[in-house]
Amino acid sequence: MSVFAYSFKNRSWDIAAVRFSASGQLLSAIGRKVMEMKTLVVYYTWSNGNTERIARRLAQSCGGDLEALQTAVRYEGSHQDVVEQALEETKKGFTPPLMPLKKKIRDYEVIVIGTPTWWYTMAPAVLSFIRSQDFTGKTVIPFMTNAGWPGHVIKDMTKEIESRGGTVRDPFEVRFDSSGGSQLVTKEREILKWMERIPAIR
Ligand SMILES: Cc1cc2nc3c(=O)[nH]c(=O)nc-3n(C[C@H](O)[C@H](O)[C@H](O)COP(=O)(O)O)c2cc1C
Repeated sequence: MSVFAYSFKNRSWDIAAVRFSASGQLLSAIGRKVMEMKTLVVYYTWSNGNTERIARRLAQSCGGDLEALQTAVRYEGSHQDVVEQALEETKKGFTPPLMPLKKKIRDYEVIVIGTPTWWYTMAPAVLSFIRSQDFTGKTVIPFMTNAGWPGHVIKDMTKEIESRGGTVRDPFEVRFDSSGGSQLVTKEREILKWMERIPAIR
């Protein structure tokens, strides 16, 4: 027989398996405590919704909440205009102002941060987000999407997150086709393997 008890105070489950004899004598009992980690998946997406697609799937698989980053001033013009603007911004380490977040970062123990690759690094909106946070005591999982030139996105994100107190684990790179389109190149089983490592309940 299994017994479950939930503590709202500690946000933990106590799970016990107990065995009784026919006469009702307790034969054995084993138990374990399972902590529930609240997870927030924060992402920025611009070209095709590639990063959003991965973020949504991950939030669903780990039972986490989802928050999309939006710049206060939207990127406008042709794709080429934005590529040129992005080159200047990433060179300077520009941090564009963001629209206010709906979720409170302090309510979560695990923060997943997803970005498209922009000129071999994270998109400026994601740099703004990371630089505006204190990740002390939190586990932070960076992931990025790219078109085949991943550059130093994960390295840059890790440096920024760790300098704000976060513990980085399970970073992941998802590759889409080299035309900058929405065709997935990274193998589905690799993505599933990564997602399975990020359960909301530990
Ligand atoms: C401004 C800009 C810069 C980009 N720079 C790179 C790059 O350096 N390396 C790369 O592999 N892909 C690059 N890409 C392609 C995107 O990273 C890729 O298509 C990504 O999956 C788009 O995600 P999204 O649809 O969520 O915006 C760039 C795209 C844009 C718009």
